[in-house]
Amino acid sequence: MARRFTGGKLIVASHNAGKVREIRELLAPYSANVISAGDLGLPEPEETGTTFIANAELKARAAASAANLPALADDSGFAVDALDGAPGLYSARWAGPSKDFAFAMKRVEDELRGKADTRAHFICALSLAWPDGTCESFEGAVHGHVTFPARGLKGFGYDPIFIADGFKVTFAEMEPNEKHAISHRAEAFRQLVAACFA
Ligand code: IMP
Repeated sequence: MARRFTGGKLIVASHNAGKVREIRELLAPYSANVISAGDLGLPEPEETGTTFIANAELKARAAASAANLPALADDSGFAVDALDGAPGLYSARWAGPSKDFAFAMKRVEDELRGKADTRAHFICALSLAWPDGTCESFEGAVHGHVTFPARGLKGFGYDPIFIADGFKVTFAEMEPNEKHAISHRAEAFRQLVAACFA
């Protein structure tokens, strides 16, 4: 049995205002008073883990122990099968310091040239940690394939080159609520809420 969140303050271990807002909305029904790590001035630990769950856990544990409150963290990325799971943990870093995802998507296209297998997936890990060190972690994925040229203006990151199984449009051509219903993040949240909040 997973440990449950019993109400009160919950740190979201992210300095990304958009992410914090989304998590606050998702957890609104569960009497969580969501506070961002950015608002508390908590430091951002280096993501030195070798898996998405390891990185989510180290961020959640660092925030929980610094704030002495339960803390939730996520880590996500894009994995292309024929590239041995790259960009994977380096998904954000492939876009460089200027966060140029056209550049990152071009690199995926270049590295896939001559390869027949276009399978890919997004992964999202979520970890909920308590100050005593207890940590519950969940991982969601959405499977599909990559397509070129990039299509669509919605979403972010690698969305314009990803088509989920059962769809013909890219994630960047979908309405946000359509993407959010099937995304890796939604799947991880469903697991987290069922185990720790519902
Ligand atoms: P982080 O979880 O904020 O470290 O982000 C990891 C990186 O994975 C992002 O910068 C994006 O490049 C990529 N990524 C994660 N989720 C998505 C998504 O839903 N669409 C497109 N790219 C994503």
